[in-house]
Amino acid sequence: MLQVISLSKSYDHKTYAVNELSFAVENGHILALLGHNGAGKSTMLRLVSTMLQASSGQVLIDGIDVFGTEADQLREIKRKIGFVPETVNLLEYLTAWEYLFYIGQMYGIEDETLLTSKVNELVERFGITEAREKTTSDYSSGLKKRISIASIMINQPRLLLLDEPTAHLDPIGVKTLKDCLRELRSEGATIMLATHQLDIAEQLADEILIINEGQQLFYGTQDHLREHFQDSDGQGNLESFYSRLLGG
Ligand SMILES: Nc1ncnc2c1ncn2[C@@H]1O[C@H](COP(=O)(O)OP(=O)(O)O)[C@@H](O)[C@H]1O
Ligand SMILES: [Mg+2]
Repeated sequence: MLQVISLSKSYDHKTYAVNELSFAVENGHILALLGHNGAGKSTMLRLVSTMLQASSGQVLIDGIDVFGTEADQLREIKRKIGFVPETVNLLEYLTAWEYLFYIGQMYGIEDETLLTSKVNELVERFGITEAREKTTSDYSSGLKKRISIASIMINQPRLLLLDEPTAHLDPIGVKTLKDCLRELRSEGATIMLATHQLDIAEQLADEILIINEGQQLFYGTQDHLREHFQDSDGQGNLESFYSRLLGG
């Protein structure tokens, strides 16, 4: 369970990239974070990932305040988090296979036979062909994204944070990602993804949070959104609601 309470972040001590945002994501739920470029989505995800320090407010993961806890406990929390950043940064001198194995080791999977079979399974599932032949620097941006997504799956994360995960992915990659997220949700994971693809949000999200200039414009379920924004015929989809909220 993720709870975010009055969270704010200012990079320059004048303007706020994230401004007093509050929301919660239950276990077994997917929240889609929507908003224009510069709305504060990546900042929000980096705050929740504990990589970025908040200016004020709280992030509670399973009830523990990540900015107020001891280093030991924070380490434990971090092991449960899988974060796919907007810009993928892999260790370019490793092959995809070696990279996944290394990430597994970082997460503390010590049984080599187990880890080997997990890596093989992910390589297969995510269609990372030539995983053993090429170093990650030689993959296309789409394949790099797949490797990054596969790498967080290795530890069966309880909290997944994905920043525009479908960018650069081909349709098969998108389908694999959606299947994986649905599977993890059914196992009780908490998932938050920022996306510009409203169709993905519509297909996956239990709750939607729309932000602009770091502030909440809408937060609720898709049904709630429909009730709020349906036109006189009771019609509309996420795209039309989004356009009405944000213009265009
Ligand atoms: N590292 C940073 N230093 C200073 N300003 C930043 C930094 N990262 C983001 N910002 C600013 O914070 C605001 C929100 O950016 P961001 O979180 O990247 O939005 P989004 O992911 O929705 O496009 C923007 O005005 C952006 O310029
Ligand atoms: Mg971003």
